Amino acid sequence: MRRERISIFDTTLRDGEQSPGCSMQPEEKLRMALQLAALKVDVIEAGFPVASEEDFAAVSLVSRKVRGPVIAALCRTLKGDIDRAWEALRDGPRPRIHTFISTSDLHMSHKLQKTRAEVLAMTREGVRRAAGLCGDVEFSAEDASRSDPAFLADIVAVALEEGAGTINLPDTVGYTVPGEFRDFLLDLRSRVPALDRAVLSVHCHDDLGLAVANSLAGIEAGARQVECTINGIGERAGNASLEEIVMALRVRGERLPFETGIVTEELFRSSQILSNITGVQVQPNKAIVGRNAFAHESGIHQHGMLSNPMTYEIMTPATVGVKTSSLILGKHSGRHALKQRYEELGYPLEQETLDRAYKLFAGLADQKREIYDEDLVALLHDGITECPQTCRLVAVQASAGTHSIATALVTLECEHGPATETASGDGPVNAVCEAINRITGMQGELRDFRLHSVTGGADAQGEVHVRVRFPEGVFTGRAASTDIVHGSAQAYLDAVNKVFLARTRREAVATA
Ligand code: KIV
Ligand code: ZN
Repeated sequence: MRRERISIFDTTLRDGEQSPGCSMQPEEKLRMALQLAALKVDVIEAGFPVASEEDFAAVSLVSRKVRGPVIAALCRTLKGDIDRAWEALRDGPRPRIHTFISTSDLHMSHKLQKTRAEVLAMTREGVRRAAGLCGDVEFSAEDASRSDPAFLADIVAVALEEGAGTINLPDTVGYTVPGEFRDFLLDLRSRVPALDRAVLSVHCHDDLGLAVANSLAGIEAGARQVECTINGIGERAGNASLEEIVMALRVRGERLPFETGIVTEELFRSSQILSNITGVQVQPNKAIVGRNAFAHESGIHQHGMLSNPMTYEIMTPATVGVKTSSLILGKHSGRHALKQRYEELGYPLEQETLDRAYKLFAGLADQKREIYDEDLVALLHDGITECPQTCRLVAVQASAGTHSIATALVTLECEHGPATETASGDGPVNAVCEAINRITGMQGELRDFRLHSVTGGADAQGEVHVRVRFPEGVFTGRAASTDIVHGSAQAYLDAVNKVFLARTRREAVATA
């Protein structure tokens, strides 16, 4: 059967990043973008450059360093937005300007305070400007699914006339239902025949839990690009989940005769890396990538699985990159075994990264008898952090109890040599953060603290994620350790080092 190709437009780094607790620094976006390239998405939307210096830096970094996918940047139809997006993109080999404006009466009158004629004119000017700068332009009509179809048809016709090669029709507030969305797209295609010469795209939000179903309905109605995110992260209830769309197309190929270029074996790893960066874990029952997605608890199900896995499993864990056995190395494993295991896990390491990972591995093997794949992945993320370590943790000690004030003693190695401070706090973690603030002169305030164990077992590593408010903004930090206090100190320091990096970057922009 001939299968038509669906282009996967990943907006984890833009719409996904807009979801609470999911903000990412430029280096973190780069790490995720490299994984998205390994997953072989067609387009990576890396950010909204006019929104902040960090977003500009992220788009510019991703477009310069990531090879394979098209790199897109979002902008309104305003001249300043478009020029800023182009500035961030232009050094990369495959740039796309993605410009948008709202087209529903509700948005136009209450958000933009513009008339239909003004929005039409802004669409014309914006797309024309973008097409004058970049050969690949996408236009989005925000809140398309609640827009007047005749007016939307005029808007789309203008965007096409001015050179948009992709027309995206979002269900911005997750309001539509599948049959309705399908009819809406078919109706628009009949109103604007020229649309069939461009790529029709859909972008569905999940407010009613229908984002994936609506995206599939969109494909059946002629969409050949789908916008989605890893783990379905995004504004409010999120965006359509990339892994669910891709696997629905793959598993139900006889019903949905389409294909994507996605390497599905990279899906689970992509999900894990995103959770690792943001600290936001997926719910255990999340389709495809949740912890329980391939677990069979009841006796009847287990019996069925043993006689034929197809009884209760419509895809194998291996197809999405879930490894079923993960027990591996220990204290006596050498560098060669470590290198090989990382390769098997899909991480071919350069010598320098391997050296750093091995050092961390040896330290961990002293504290933990059995080291699992999950430990190695957590370790690797500590070992390859791109953020310069302006301050390093030398030692930390904390004490706390029911009848005593929590205190901490911290020693850091910073630019001017080692420094030690003590502090007290509401608990040992708070005391440790206070001591780090004193040494670094930071005014960080811990906003969120999350701890989860990387594997099972009493000697499991705890992975700590923090969100810290500084005068410069909110920064995240992460670290894994078998000692929670040590992990907390490292995670807090990770956030502090990101502030140092952001300051350096801002100074460089100011003096440029
Ligand atoms: O949801 C939406 O409408 C968007 C557009 C800006 C593409 O994210
Ligand atoms: Zn959106």
